[in-house]
Amino acid sequence: MTIMAVLLFRRTHRSRNEGREPPKADLNNETEQDMQFFIDTADLEEIRAANELGVLDGVTTNPSLVAKIVQEPDRFTYDDFKAHIAKICEIVDGPVSAEVTTLTADEMIAQGEELASIDENVVVKCPLTLDGLKATRALSGSGIRVNATLVFTTTQAILAAKAGASYVSPFVGRLDDISTEGMALIRQIVTVYENYGYPTEVLVASIRHPQHVVEAALAGADVATIPYKVIGQLAKHPLTDNGLERFMKDAAIFGRE
Ligand code: G3P
Repeated sequence: MTIMAVLLFRRTHRSRNEGREPPKADLNNETEQDMQFFIDTADLEEIRAANELGVLDGVTTNPSLVAKIVQEPDRFTYDDFKAHIAKICEIVDGPVSAEVTTLTADEMIAQGEELASIDENVVVKCPLTLDGLKATRALSGSGIRVNATLVFTTTQAILAAKAGASYVSPFVGRLDDISTEGMALIRQIVTVYENYGYPTEVLVASIRHPQHVVEAALAGADVATIPYKVIGQLAKHPLTDNGLERFMKDAAIFGRE
């Protein structure tokens, strides 16, 4: 990329972000437009642990992630599900995606309103179906943020933006699973959104390993939603561990009181 092209890209990238709320944390090391890290789990312990690292901006859940943490499925009710989302909102001061479990637009709108009433940080996840689009338009029109989920093509992402979704969630891992490059989709969506100045944020989902996070950042994605295990892997390097061991050994000569 030439210097001119880089400058043009940066200007375009910034213009897509104009008018958005600045990232909530006012840390000294924050860049003009931070890449947001969400955790992709419904496990409260994982959410607490990730939150304590100080780099967590939000949470995404889906019905499968919630089902994973339910200990007594026969006794788990819809009220328990809503209470669980409320608990997540108490831990993390940032967007928490809660997914609708209905299929028609009317049902999704009613459920979306109910989920959004749990906490102001709840973002309603709607599937990218025709009914989901109608629900996305209605919910976002009434001021409720929507995360358009199960997105696998650029056309679906354009529809999500046109319907007013706050986030679009392309599933990169599931595309990789069927021998289709998930990150190519992210690059296309970022480009298309920049072309038209869509404010919808690109939330990279179905992340399986650290390289997905690197490539999401290189593509200029707004958010990566990352499983707890992968968040740990982001910090890990054997040379860091070896180097630390050596520093600790050498530091022994001057002690510590
Ligand atoms: O955020 C969506 C994500 O949970 C899907 O991940 O690993 O089930 O494809 P995965």
